[in-house]
Amino acid sequence: MIFESHAHYDDEVFDEDREELLASLAGHGIGTVINVGASLAGCRATLELTKKYPFVYGAMGVHPGETQELSEDGVVWLREQCSQDKIVAVGEIGLDYYWKEPDPVVQKKWFERQLELAREVGLPVIIHSRDAAKDTLDMMRALRAEEMGGVVHCYSYTKELAREYLNMDFYFGIGGVITFKNAKKLKEAVAYIPLEKILLETDSPYLSPEPNRGKRNSSLNLPYVAEAVAELKGVSSEEVVEVTRQNAERLFHLEEGHTDKTSD
Ligand code: NI
Repeated sequence: MIFESHAHYDDEVFDEDREELLASLAGHGIGTVINVGASLAGCRATLELTKKYPFVYGAMGVHPGETQELSEDGVVWLREQCSQDKIVAVGEIGLDYYWKEPDPVVQKKWFERQLELAREVGLPVIIHSRDAAKDTLDMMRALRAEEMGGVVHCYSYTKELAREYLNMDFYFGIGGVITFKNAKKLKEAVAYIPLEKILLETDSPYLSPEPNRGKRNSSLNLPYVAEAVAELKGVSSEEVVEVTRQNAERLFHLEEGHTDKTSD
């Protein structure tokens, strides 16, 4: 079964058919979903989804583009939610200089605070980094993110930078972009990164792979991503599905017989 490591099923574009869609995933080979919070409201909705669906786990965090809403009270609330049963990561957190909104100074402040939160609660992090390669890596090093571990979601940087994240023992979230014809740099990076450090993700509803590019994305498109990774790695897509599932279960502490995240 495919492990979907990054989706936003709380997004309003799923309001019309969320229940049907989520109910259909298992029949299409999708076994587990991490629903990732991107705002405080998104985190609340994520908690609801984890309670409603046995196969949905959650991450609690505020996306860099939403950090203007954060305050120390917000972080206290996030910390409380992190102790709930099916919350397995802090994220998505990071820096986004493509949209320099809010100001990078604000983004950095709350990235640092949420990295500290991950350390406090002992959870791995889900990193969002866009056009902010240097600052992201500098901050993660300064805050010793390798001690928390985590995944760089929707990895979009070079193979050289991938080496730096591998040195920190991080994972790489690979999604629909890998199927795009012009994704040369990413294809080089994925060819380089060991399969044991790759997670499959969609970032639904965004970044739909070929042949559904431009449409609303869902975990149902993950076989296209698995196929593209398999081609680059010279293995079967079944192997990609199996190894990336094991990777995600290891990172998020969901190994069989080890489902209570507090037990280790
Ligand atoms: Ni996302």
